[in-house]
Amino acid sequence: MKVIAFNGSPRRGGNTEILLTEAIRGVKDQGSEVTTYNLDTLALRPCLNCGKCDEAAQCVVQDDMQTILREIRSADRIIVASPIFFFSVSAQTKIMIDRCQSFWAEKYVHKKPVQPGPFGRKGLLLLVGGMKQNEKNVGFQCSEATTRAFFRTVNVQEHATLEFDAVDKKGAIKEHPTALQDAYEAGKKLVTG
Ligand SMILES: Cc1cc2nc3c(=O)[nH]c(=O)nc-3n(C[C@H](O)[C@H](O)[C@H](O)COP(=O)(O)O)c2cc1C
Repeated sequence: MKVIAFNGSPRRGGNTEILLTEAIRGVKDQGSEVTTYNLDTLALRPCLNCGKCDEAAQCVVQDDMQTILREIRSADRIIVASPIFFFSVSAQTKIMIDRCQSFWAEKYVHKKPVQPGPFGRKGLLLLVGGMKQNEKNVGFQCSEATTRAFFRTVNVQEHATLEFDAVDKKGAIKEHPTALQDAYEAGKKLVTG
């Protein structure tokens, strides 16, 4: 089973990366390998809305996204991990998502959604925010809506989400009573459930 993971945090060793590492450990313990992309280290231009993907169903911008697009196409499982920045996913995550507009064109203009492999296509979203969320939960809701749109566009029809609020200081996620175990179990479930 091919599993890819996107780390949307620019803070190395930060809360998102710690959570993601646990989820990956869960996946690996079930015998699958994971390729991780630290999005802030890649050369990714934002979507230009040039409209070329409506015609060719391909992104014409030649940067590291070409590799990511190929990876997304052939993945069986996709993990997205992001900190909450200004009530949404980080810019690094959002750039990657916007650049999937060619998949949107493929699915909705050309009517050719990405074909699932023998294991189907499933996703996992890991979110961590520094603020204590109130009942409106805006930061998580916005991030969920954006990432759900991404997953469905690349034909990942089901995904699980883990959200952790009030986790701000670098490494503070380690003090959370359940977060690391939750991420580990979610990683396991992603490839077995
Ligand atoms: C630019 C920026 C914007 C942020 N905006 C929010 C926010 O809107 N809501 C929130 O809960 N936390 C916000 N935070 C806090 C981060 O989500 C929090 O520190 C998180 O633990 C960072 O994860 P990391 O260690 O993986 O980078 C923000 C942090 C930064 C740097």
